[in-house]
Amino acid sequence: MLSYQHAFHAGNHADVIKHLCWIGVINSLKKKDKAFTLYDTHAGAGSYDFNEAMSAKNKEYESGISKLVQHGAKSSLLRDYLNLCEPFLSSDHYPGSPALSAEAKRESDTLHAMELHPAEFDKLEINIAKLNKSHCHVHKRDGFEGLRALTPPKPNRGAILIDPPYEREVEYQDVVKGIEQVLKRWQQAQIVIWYPLLSARAGNKHGASERMCAKLAELGRPCFKAEICVAENTTDAGMYGSGVLVINPPWQLNEQLENALDETITLMGEHASVKIAWVNQDN
Ligand SMILES: C[S@@+](CC[C@H](N)C(=O)[O-])C[C@H]1O[C@@H](n2cnc3c(N)ncnc32)[C@H](O)[C@@H]1O
Repeated sequence: MLSYQHAFHAGNHADVIKHLCWIGVINSLKKKDKAFTLYDTHAGAGSYDFNEAMSAKNKEYESGISKLVQHGAKSSLLRDYLNLCEPFLSSDHYPGSPALSAEAKRESDTLHAMELHPAEFDKLEINIAKLNKSHCHVHKRDGFEGLRALTPPKPNRGAILIDPPYEREVEYQDVVKGIEQVLKRWQQAQIVIWYPLLSARAGNKHGASERMCAKLAELGRPCFKAEICVAENTTDAGMYGSGVLVINPPWQLNEQLENALDETITLMGEHASVKIAWVNQDN
């Protein structure tokens, strides 16, 4: 069952925290000359047109990326993110995670973007081809199966973005299982997992992200969580914010993200808040 369409949500506050974090990971990988590989297990369509019916329906970008444009960013991570978004925004588009990866990585680095939904995959293929970047591979396959088949990379450096729709409760368990398996083969993998913060209105899914993060912490790898809460109601029933859990985070990513999010949140309304905390700290 694949009914989720990211176009309804493109550029919202959840995309902002997820993409800021992902760009921070890519930036730190770029500090060394050695090539790296990026895996995007749930890639989506790659680019979203704000004028297209789904994005235009609720205009979620208006309380997300639109609040940040024309802001003179002080944090270098926020500046990098806005610079990457700018060419898309100037033609009323928002870049999805695979487009941001393709633009942020160097020529010698590799991207594997996986998407299971046939129509989303067709768009992804077109949108990534349009960017005309080397070593960008799109796969119509299950993201976790793809991870099993394509990791560890050679050379053994890189990162994984895991961003499922969480429409089905089982997806929370799939994330834990998928990460457990990949860490057995590739211990150094830097992994960013996005998750929704859901109120009691979400029924059984209320608390599911917190339970998933607790299970991920039990894997024993260094990890921190960054969350933003937004006060305004969104069209996602019960979603009051979202977060990222970063496994094997690069040095100082927590501080860079904190600076970027502190600045971001002041633009997102007086009730918006940020929380960043280590779950397992590397000693
Ligand atoms: C939240 S969206 C991805 C957004 C994208 N990561 C971004 O930040 O721009 C989740 C995507 O995962 C796809 N999907 C759902 N289950 C999947 C699976 N098992 N493997 C790969 N893709 C899947 C959905 O079709 C949807 O396009």
